[in-house]
Amino acid sequence: MVTLGIETSCDETAAAVGKGGRILSNIVSSSVPFHREFGGVIPEIASRFHIEYIDRVTKQALKKAKKTPGDLDLIAVTERPGLPGSLLVGIAFAKALSYSLGIPLVPVDHLLAHLYANFLTRDASLIRFPFVGAVVSGGHTNIFICRSWKDFKIIGEAKDDAIGEAFDKVAKILGIGYPGGPNIEKYARRFFRFPSGRVGFASGLPIDFPRAYLDSDSFDFSLSGIKTAVLYYVKKNNISQKQISRISWSFQEAVFDVLAERVVKACKKFRINDVLFGGGVVSNMRLRAKLKNVCKNAGVRFFYPPPALCVDNAAMVAGLGEALYKMKG
Ligand code: KG4
Ligand code: ZN
Repeated sequence: MVTLGIETSCDETAAAVGKGGRILSNIVSSSVPFHREFGGVIPEIASRFHIEYIDRVTKQALKKAKKTPGDLDLIAVTERPGLPGSLLVGIAFAKALSYSLGIPLVPVDHLLAHLYANFLTRDASLIRFPFVGAVVSGGHTNIFICRSWKDFKIIGEAKDDAIGEAFDKVAKILGIGYPGGPNIEKYARRFFRFPSGRVGFASGLPIDFPRAYLDSDSFDFSLSGIKTAVLYYVKKNNISQKQISRISWSFQEAVFDVLAERVVKACKKFRINDVLFGGGVVSNMRLRAKLKNVCKNAGVRFFYPPPALCVDNAAMVAGLGEALYKMKG
């Protein structure tokens, strides 16, 4: 079965062709450069970018996969959640294509697709349902229990900012540009490495920013406290390049400690042994190292996709669409 995936939920216009769980092509065109001066995604700009690029990105995906529209058996499109104006472009395009080609269309949940990205990796055969899923992106921070692709439940979430959003806002406070995640990671890495290359704290000790665990019975998060703590720290101190690195490291640690704790707690509570991560923030190398450590100590098996499949893409949409379609029949 050859499936075309379409993804336009936020600021990436993406199309991919998949076949039987394999990726034949995966094309992403991002409007990030146009949002940079605003320090965040401007919905109107994102929608207009999708309108302009959706057809060329799709043509490119078909060409790279060496397929023609006539070879397609199925179309999968991100249906929700996302920016309404952005989603509409992908959905309208996918509907028109499905109608004109006379092939079925499967709507896909973007968050589940982020988790599905793990099934596109070499480790896919090791994953067992039920699993705990953690989607950590710019728009969402959700913890799931997933019994099948049609039987899932959100058990915890960020009550204010999503983790990626908090990264973007803290980067804005620090004046290091958008999107914040990769920039904060870059600065943080400098704090943990001497110019000689030796690993260790290069300029002072980390700042002890608050770990924002909400009540101990839940799996929820709050990121506003730590964001405010960074803001006050920046207002009170002279911020040199070294200080930016120190704040970046300390912020990352505080946020990732909470995430790791919540996820492991969910695994223990529900006696689930596999945890799948997904979303743009999971491309952060420090987070990956921490999760490896924490999950190993807790005896939990963890999976995360390669960075290119953590950020928004359509390969995960095509893959999940095909899996859902096969569950129907
Ligand atoms: O999943 P994604 O591509 O889009 C959404 O569905 O939101 O995630 C984008 C988010 C942005 O907030 C970005 O700052 C964050 O992921 N991000 C990172 C890193 N790379 C991207 N956050 C931390 N470290 C990174 N290396
Ligand atoms: Zn996403």
